[in-house]
Amino acid sequence: MAEVRVERLHRSFGEFTAVADISFTIADGEFVFFLGPSGCGKTTTLRMIAGLLMPSDGRIELGGRNVTYLKPRYRNVGMVFQSNVLYHHLSVYENLAYPLKVRGLSSSATRAKVEEVAAMLQISDTLRRGTDSLSGGQAQRVAIGRMLVRDADVFLMDEPISHLDAKLRAHMRAELRHLQKQLGRTTVFVSHDQLEAMSMADRIAVMNNGAVQQFAPPQEVFDRPANAFVAGFVGEPQMNILPVQLADGRAQAEGFSADLDTHWLARNRISPGAHDLGIRPEHLELSAHPLPGGFTTTLEVVEPMGPENLLTFTLGGRDFKLRRPTGESDRFREGDRVHLRAPADHIYLFDHATGRTLAQAAFTDRSHA
Ligand SMILES: Nc1ncnc2c1ncn2[C@@H]1O[C@H](COP(=O)(O)OP(=O)(O)OP(=O)(O)O)[C@@H](O)[C@H]1O
Ligand SMILES: [Mg+2]
Repeated sequence: MAEVRVERLHRSFGEFTAVADISFTIADGEFVFFLGPSGCGKTTTLRMIAGLLMPSDGRIELGGRNVTYLKPRYRNVGMVFQSNVLYHHLSVYENLAYPLKVRGLSSSATRAKVEEVAAMLQISDTLRRGTDSLSGGQAQRVAIGRMLVRDADVFLMDEPISHLDAKLRAHMRAELRHLQKQLGRTTVFVSHDQLEAMSMADRIAVMNNGAVQQFAPPQEVFDRPANAFVAGFVGEPQMNILPVQLADGRAQAEGFSADLDTHWLARNRISPGAHDLGIRPEHLELSAHPLPGGFTTTLEVVEPMGPENLLTFTLGGRDFKLRRPTGESDRFREGDRVHLRAPADHIYLFDHATGRTLAQAAFTDRSHA
């Protein structure tokens, strides 16, 4: 059982800064995701927590113990990486049993533990086989199993299921989430799949350019993003963000207009001028008739997505997306003129220069009261 505390952790490679002075604390038993685009520093941070890579500066504590420069074997962390090396001269059973054997567990206790973990991971029927005969997905589950059988204080997983097919991945998500709660073990899971993070995490550290942009529960990250990067990274398709001019309670850009709530603007101390406006694709209203306070555009692409249609138009040279239920949007075709409205209580405002969130959408005040 252990809390993970990271203070001003820094790592550079020559001139290049991979991880820039990040600080956070992961509570004992918490399931935390590092989420961010390729190259943002997720693996580098995880490797420093594991002890596989030394920091350039900063401090790492596990369970209150300073482990910053300790070797991995003195940290009691369990790890799974995207590609794992199994012991190829040993069977699956022996691969799983090995971490227990070196700890001196009795053979009956070892067998019970290995069988339990193998059942959980649906690899019971491979236990007698050599690891060379396994599919990629099976081999990855053996690697996860090897971490699970150990009594580590902290589990570290770097995209452990991203190679698996969609069905198995969905199954593994649910199983890993269940198992993590059951074991109550502090776990850090690296992913660039936001759905994985949203569905499994207690809290998500959204990273970009070697820095943590926001560290909060999934719904908070989604509803109340700290900046335009987080707003754009979380959500499928991503939030529409448009530079606008704000005057007299109205936001305008070429071909776009939205009436804002003057109380909301005042409460958030928003001054007139240039800002970035954000609205999620699911929050735009669509109509065949003009909408008061709305704008008019031409649909360029209509994509059916089962119960919804995804509609694309362009504004200021960028794609803008809207998602509407099929019943409401089925009659619209590519090339149709349509009327849209961005409802005042679903609009976000970001600082145009820094991307910092200036005003969260008003509806979130109620959902996060
Ligand atoms: N040993 C190294 N030498 C030089 N640069 C490195 C080294 N390891 C990592 N980097 C760089 O540091 C940055 C962060 O890498 P890291 O592997 O942490 O990214 P990541 O967030 O895990 O990305 P991905 O999602 O692609 O796995 C990248 O630009 C990478 O090229
Ligand atoms: Mg990585």
